[in-house]
Amino acid sequence: MTTAVSKRLHGKTILITGASSGIGRSTAFEFARSCPQDLKLILTARRIDYLREIAAEIVKEIGNGVKVLPVQLDISNPDDVRTLVARLPAEFKQVDVLVNNAGLVKGVAKSPEILEEDINVMFATNVNGLINMTQAILPNMLKLNNGAGSGDIINIGSIAGREPYVGGGIYCATKAAVRSFTESMRKELISTRIRIICIDPGQVETDFSVVRFYGDKDKAKAVYAQVTQNHQERNNDLTLTV
Ligand SMILES: NC(=O)c1ccc[n+]([C@@H]2O[C@H](COP(=O)([O-])OP(=O)(O)OC[C@H]3O[C@@H](n4cnc5c(N)ncnc54)[C@H](OP(=O)(O)O)[C@@H]3O)[C@@H](O)[C@H]2O)c1
Repeated sequence: MTTAVSKRLHGKTILITGASSGIGRSTAFEFARSCPQDLKLILTARRIDYLREIAAEIVKEIGNGVKVLPVQLDISNPDDVRTLVARLPAEFKQVDVLVNNAGLVKGVAKSPEILEEDINVMFATNVNGLINMTQAILPNMLKLNNGAGSGDIINIGSIAGREPYVGGGIYCATKAAVRSFTESMRKELISTRIRIICIDPGQVETDFSVVRFYGDKDKAKAVYAQVTQNHQERNNDLTLTV
């Protein structure tokens, strides 16, 4: 069935960073399901084996109407990002939709105990990586429509960028930076046909907390167990009061 969404996506090339897991992976499937014909997806992350598996799963579910290109990319490495477009095959070079999703959190330490390497990796990935990626893709978007430009940039921020919390000082600061950069760019691009938005998810159960706790799955699971319990308690409260 042709829907309004699938019509708008028809013939488009979409690049998703951090597509090997969680929100990025699901975003790739959603785009493919929304436009199963004549869509190109570029999936990037460091774990290329995961990206290849996801590419195969998408083609298995959707069919060959969606062309998927897995590309290994460390977004925290500026050289890797700068050379990305040049390394893409010709048919994938013009990106219509960029989803800046790659990001991570490390630790729950409070200042002055925050590890310098954690500070650096969060800023290099969530802030510098996202900015470098945007600057790598934007020139080709600006060239379209005789200079009026065309394209969409979707930055994944976080509620943490609006509501900082204890033990999240650096992560929250990186997401506030994403929000602020998005808003500046929105004003810079106002006279073009390029749209830029920031989506701020709340808590989503992905590998996010596993990364936060340096691979400790029990600690990560505990984060979401509490959420489920509260949710159930709220439901119970509702049942009691209704
Ligand atoms: N889960 C939540 O509760 C939540 C809430 C609000 C916002 N967010 C944001 O949503 C985004 C996705 O997170 P998620 O929850 O889906 O977590 P996730 O499952 O851990 O996924 C993170 C993705 O980012 C990629 N990534 C991390 N460092 C990278 C690097 N240096 N270069 C390239 N890719 C890198 C990872 O791929 P590789 O490891 O393969 O490189 C992975 O695909 C993040 O920006 C996060 O801050 C998450």
